[in-house]
Amino acid sequence: MRKARSVLITGASSGIGRALALAFAEPGTRLALVGRNATRLAETAEAASAKGANVEQVILDVRDRDAMRLWIEAADRAHPFDLVIANAGITTGLAMDALAEEPDAVRAILATNLVGVLNTVEPLITPMCARRQGQIAFIGSMAGLRGLPYSPAYCMTKAAVHAYAESLRGRLARHGVQVSLAIVGFVKTPLNDSITAIKPFEISDARAAELIKAGLARGRAIIAFPWPLFAAAWLGRLVPARLYDLIMGRIEANVPETNERLS
Ligand SMILES: NC(=O)c1ccc[n+]([C@@H]2O[C@H](COP(=O)([O-])OP(=O)(O)OC[C@H]3O[C@@H](n4cnc5c(N)ncnc54)[C@H](OP(=O)(O)O)[C@@H]3O)[C@@H](O)[C@H]2O)c1
Repeated sequence: MRKARSVLITGASSGIGRALALAFAEPGTRLALVGRNATRLAETAEAASAKGANVEQVILDVRDRDAMRLWIEAADRAHPFDLVIANAGITTGLAMDALAEEPDAVRAILATNLVGVLNTVEPLITPMCARRQGQIAFIGSMAGLRGLPYSPAYCMTKAAVHAYAESLRGRLARHGVQVSLAIVGFVKTPLNDSITAIKPFEISDARAAELIKAGLARGRAIIAFPWPLFAAAWLGRLVPARLYDLIMGRIEANVPETNERLS
């Protein structure tokens, strides 16, 4: 099992990103933690430092392409990253009686969950390939496996991230860079708490981080959990569209619209 020594995590101020920071925190590890909320990011940084890691907290908006590129390139020159985890993300969706998502909310989630992921990963592809060493991890979702009628834009962003991760994986392997995609089920976080729905097999953020870390250490291409939900979602892809729509349409879910807008 390979040990990552220099790790970049976006969205480290809450939920899965925070739990990942704590999971990787140990003496000898350097953590670069990105988020926007200074107070919550400082709390994560303090907890990770207490576990012996060397921590840098960076207030950055993943949607800011230039700022992300400038900071990531400089940080990578100073302390080359072994692992980047593109985790930062938001959700948006539909209330029970809503027809379509607010167009500005759709653009906002694309900016964070898709363009923000590109802004995180792109600056590191060339340097990692040049070193012939590195690992790129994407945080996908079961929602990326097949569209859900209550969160169209969220599903779109995660499906796009899945396709991008898969494409990159095949391209970069021969350059010594591993690409992993975490396909994540329900994890108890503020993002997940905002959604009203049944959440089968929900797990804690600490357990999710543990599973992602273990999968990354093994260099797994796909890190999917919990497996019963993954199996059901995977099988769901084989169900004919009309039947799938009928089943999913009966599920009561309320996903609030994001307050985020393009900055
Ligand atoms: N929880 C689940 O059930 C679940 C399931 C599948 C996949 N996921 C994915 O897991 C990832 C983390 O979600 P979570 O559940 O841990 O949510 P969360 O607790 O709400 O945390 C989201 C993190 O993303 C950061 N973030 C959002 N927009 C950002 C921006 N523009 N720039 C920088 N950072 C930004 C937030 O930082 P600030 O608050 O500081 O801005 C926060 O640290 C997301 O990609 C999500 O889609 C979650």
